[in-house]
Amino acid sequence: MGKSSLLILPGDGIGPEVMVEVRKIIDWFGSNRGLDFDVTEDLVGGAAYDAHGTPLHDETMAKALLVDAVLLGAVGGPKYDNLDFSLKPERGLLRLRKEMDLYSNLRPAQCFDALANFSSLKTEVVSGLDIMIVRELTSGIYFGEPRGIITEGNERVGINTQRYTESEIERVARSAFELAKRRGNKVCSMEKANVMESGVLWRDTVDKVHQADYSEVELSHMYADAGAMQLCRWPKQFDVIVTDNLFGDILSDTAAMLTGSLGMLPSASLGAPMENGRPKALYEPVHGSAPDIAGQGKANPIACILSFAMALRYSFDEGVEADRLEQSIENVLSKGARTHDLLGEEGITPLSTSEMGDAIVDALTDSI
Ligand code: IPM
Ligand code: MG
Repeated sequence: MGKSSLLILPGDGIGPEVMVEVRKIIDWFGSNRGLDFDVTEDLVGGAAYDAHGTPLHDETMAKALLVDAVLLGAVGGPKYDNLDFSLKPERGLLRLRKEMDLYSNLRPAQCFDALANFSSLKTEVVSGLDIMIVRELTSGIYFGEPRGIITEGNERVGINTQRYTESEIERVARSAFELAKRRGNKVCSMEKANVMESGVLWRDTVDKVHQADYSEVELSHMYADAGAMQLCRWPKQFDVIVTDNLFGDILSDTAAMLTGSLGMLPSASLGAPMENGRPKALYEPVHGSAPDIAGQGKANPIACILSFAMALRYSFDEGVEADRLEQSIENVLSKGARTHDLLGEEGITPLSTSEMGDAIVDALTDSI
């Protein structure tokens, strides 16, 4: 493999400390597997606001458009709560998603065997769970116009607009069907076609894509509220779920919690292929910046490390090395290593963030 470029944006809260652990893993692959990454680091979110007065500097945006993949930690924190929307840390992330046109957000919810008893659901409901939520990420109510707070008569009115074009629905549906073909061959599409026109168009468009090109994949439709209920009742009925930006935001948090810990889940946001054939891509843990535990060595670095594993698989065509990394994490967990978010069993001393990173590096070394 030639040199691949990676832009690392640690961001806020626990972002920087989990990213230190990811750097250890990247270095390990460089020294031991010949995967040579040209890594640059930059600011995003509150950290960028503090330095530049904007949550994403234009130069950082330009860099993100040039690299093979972006790896992001987390953005946000209470310090920035009162900033104008256009300056909030989250805006930095939303700008990256929009300008890189990362329309397909892959959020796996996978239950690690060693952690099945961590879920708030019964072990038999979650053990072996492996579903993938595909969330549309660049349109819908997150970006639709008109939006804002206006004054009507003597009161204020808050407005957001759910808007989807057929082509926006079509491309994310395609990416869900393609994924399903490589997994359990099942897609469930979720919307609210019973109350929203955008939901009617969503369902119709997904059906058309299915009939035209993916009739061998099993397709079902569910209203998103019923989908939330079914996710908690019997999540193993699902393989790939495809849904819009806002429903996907909510359903993916629900699915994440089924697995026992938000600290374990990675995500990939993919766009159209670049000139070199690789998709534009940004990888980030599903968890947020967790300001309450930031800087205390309590954060679980696994979600961010697994996000790097997704980068190996989807951006760098290194599926075997991604498997190696995921298996090493399984091994560390099955030997009983736990970070603070995974306590619950008696008599376990938690590992710090950096001890967990070291344990994974050791397991990687044991794997060769
Ligand atoms: C997520 C987050 C973001 C979102 C925030 C931080 C803007 O909740 O990635 O799920 O709402 O999309
Ligand atoms: Mg969210």
